[in-house]
Amino acid sequence: MHVHVALGPAEFPGLALAGRSALVVDVLRATTTVVAAFAAGCRRVVPAGDVEAARARAGEFPVAERLLAGEQGGEPIPGFDLGNSPLEYVPERVHGRTIVLTTTNGTAAMLVAGAAARGAVAALVNVEAAAHWCAAQTRDVVVLCAGEKGDFALEDAVCAGLVVERLLAARPEAVASDAATAAWRLGQHYASRLDRLSVEARWARRLAARGRAADLQACLRLGGASLVPELAGGVIERGRAVLAATADAGDGSAA
Ligand code: MLT
Repeated sequence: MHVHVALGPAEFPGLALAGRSALVVDVLRATTTVVAAFAAGCRRVVPAGDVEAARARAGEFPVAERLLAGEQGGEPIPGFDLGNSPLEYVPERVHGRTIVLTTTNGTAAMLVAGAAARGAVAALVNVEAAAHWCAAQTRDVVVLCAGEKGDFALEDAVCAGLVVERLLAARPEAVASDAATAAWRLGQHYASRLDRLSVEARWARRLAARGRAADLQACLRLGGASLVPELAGGVIERGRAVLAATADAGDGSAA
C-alpha cells in the first residue's frame, strides 16, 4: 500500500484517484460537522459545490426530510436551516434527515473524493476510526486536505498526519510519500498540544475572532467517534462503525 497526503487543494486536479481510496479532511469545520451529523443520527449528507447546487440537490428529497446547511465565509447562509457548526448538529435537529451541505472548502474536497474507488470523511474527532478505515483498504490511500481557499491549512495537515501515523502502525509495509511523512511528523509535534492549533492555525484564529471558540473546542480534540462516514454515488452515508464504541464516543454507536 502507498499512502499520500495532498496537503492542499492545488494538488487535487493532478491526482489520479480512480483505483485509490480517498479520505477527506476539513477539521475546521466541515468534516467535523459531517461526523457530528451522523453521530446525531442524520440519514445522509449530500455535499454540494455552492449555494445554487445545494438548492438544486435539495429538490431531490422530500421537503419534510431535507435540511439545507453550510456556510459562506464561515457564516451561516441566509435562508438555510443550519450553519457549519458541529454544535448545531444535535438529534433534535438532524435525526433521520437528509442534510444538503455546502461549504467553502470541505464540500469541494468531498466532491473531488467522489472520483476515488472509495471515499470517506475524517476529522480529529474520528481520527482513530478513520485510520482503521484506511488500514482496511486494499488500494493505495490518498488523504485530501481541504485547506483554505486553495492554500495549506495547518489543522488539516496535522489530522492527516495523525491518520498516517496510525495507518503506518497498523500496516508497517505501507510506503509513505514525502508529503505523508511530513504530515506524520507534523502530527507528532501537535499530538500532545492540539489546543495550540486554536492560535497557530489561521482559520482557527478567524473563527475565534467571530465568536466561534466553542466550535474550536469541539473540532480541535481527539474524539472517540467510531464511525467513518463514507461516500457512495455523490452522497455520504453513515458507514459502519469500525471501532468499538468508547465512553466519550458521542456517535450514537453505543445505542
Ligand atoms: C470550509 O469548508 O471551508 C469550512 O468548513 C469553513 C468553516 O465553516 O469553518
